Amino acid sequence: MDKLNATWLTRAMESAHEILIGQTLELSGPDPTAARHNSRGAVVIENGKIARVGPADDILRAHPNLPQTDYGTALILPGFIDTHVHYPQTAIIASWGKRLIDWLDQYTFPEEMRFEDPDYAAHAARLFFDLSLGAGTTTVCSYATSHPASVTAFFEEANRRGLRAMAGKSCMDRNAPHALCDTAQRAYDESKALIETWHGKNRLCYAITPRFTPTSTTEQLNALGALWAEHPDCAMQTHISEQTDEVAWVAELCPDARDYLDTYDRAGLLGKGAIFGHAIHLTAREIARLQDTGAAIAHCPTSNTFIGSGLFDMKLAETIAVGLATDTGGGSSFSMLRTMAAAYEIAQLRGNALHPANLLWRATGGAADVLGFAGKIGQLAPGAEADLAILDLASTPVIAQRAARAGDIWEALFPTIMMGDDRAIRDVRIQGRSTGSSPC
Ligand code: GUN
Ligand code: ZN
Repeated sequence: MDKLNATWLTRAMESAHEILIGQTLELSGPDPTAARHNSRGAVVIENGKIARVGPADDILRAHPNLPQTDYGTALILPGFIDTHVHYPQTAIIASWGKRLIDWLDQYTFPEEMRFEDPDYAAHAARLFFDLSLGAGTTTVCSYATSHPASVTAFFEEANRRGLRAMAGKSCMDRNAPHALCDTAQRAYDESKALIETWHGKNRLCYAITPRFTPTSTTEQLNALGALWAEHPDCAMQTHISEQTDEVAWVAELCPDARDYLDTYDRAGLLGKGAIFGHAIHLTAREIARLQDTGAAIAHCPTSNTFIGSGLFDMKLAETIAVGLATDTGGGSSFSMLRTMAAAYEIAQLRGNALHPANLLWRATGGAADVLGFAGKIGQLAPGAEADLAILDLASTPVIAQRAARAGDIWEALFPTIMMGDDRAIRDVRIQGRSTGSSPC
């Protein structure tokens, strides 16, 4: 057995049987009427998975001898899931004054060039997971840089922490600095080698990752489409229609394509398992094609306001799987709470008031659907892996005084969604194990 497998097994065995007590909120979709809330609930954890959820009194009576952790009135939720993030951009988060293409050229590509150094990548991966977990995010789907070593650093760190995680090498063979460019063949070969090493290892999954059409030639997109056909159980992630001048550039670069989505579609990069970041400026044909093919969207609201991209139409979530995402460093926060708040604000600007259940679903179970992890993570349900975030719903004075007036769980939760940050994260559990518990 290799060292990585041994570490993971040891950790899985360490996760004791335990009862967690607190408020529980079980969602099975975005509809609040289908949710189940227990103001004094409990979750039974067995061997890193959720064995049972229900009223605390019933569970304590049924399992009188199991160890207990009582979180008082804190809310036990599935850990948050970030469906689109760039771990190598942590150092350039909150870089001022540019829109997408200039932001990439001025801030992003110079930083990504530093990931040629495996030690730099390893340090960045450690910091990234510290920040994500500190925000209550237990699974991410990340873009690495074009260097295979940056993918290795990500997966080694995720594996060391026992996380369910997804990532891929960002392939680019044009319109980027030479030091970041591969070729169609190298993109194929290096991605394939990384799939063979990492995909399906413990809790890790690979996402084939052409960065976006402006930085991938048709030849490279075709090569990655062929790779996806050979490994259909991998995900595929890329960017689409984030800014209008990007859309116009794609039309110039690919004059024979029907539209932006078609540049991926004709390369075999569209279908179930495809995750398209942003998807703001879509045509009616592109929307219909996304619906017909079962592809998913990662909505990145703090990024869309920060880089000035536009207002995503959350109504798309009625017919297309949509998960929330930070998109750091284009996004301005690691917090999925802040991300839910930005999604709420953007929808309000489009005349659509999103219910807290819908917001929460897009950051948990709905996000798991987007990543192909439905049933494994994202729900407080028996059989799911016990990756949990425990939320203090009174983490600051302003939140506490608003929550004190709440008439139901939604009113109690919404102030934390809108104003909460890492101070609201009381504890995080990975496969049942606490990453730094603070029970009452
Ligand atoms: N489009 C292509 N690459 C990127 C990126 O790194 N961030 C964002 N926000 N959009 C992109
Ligand atoms: Zn992105």
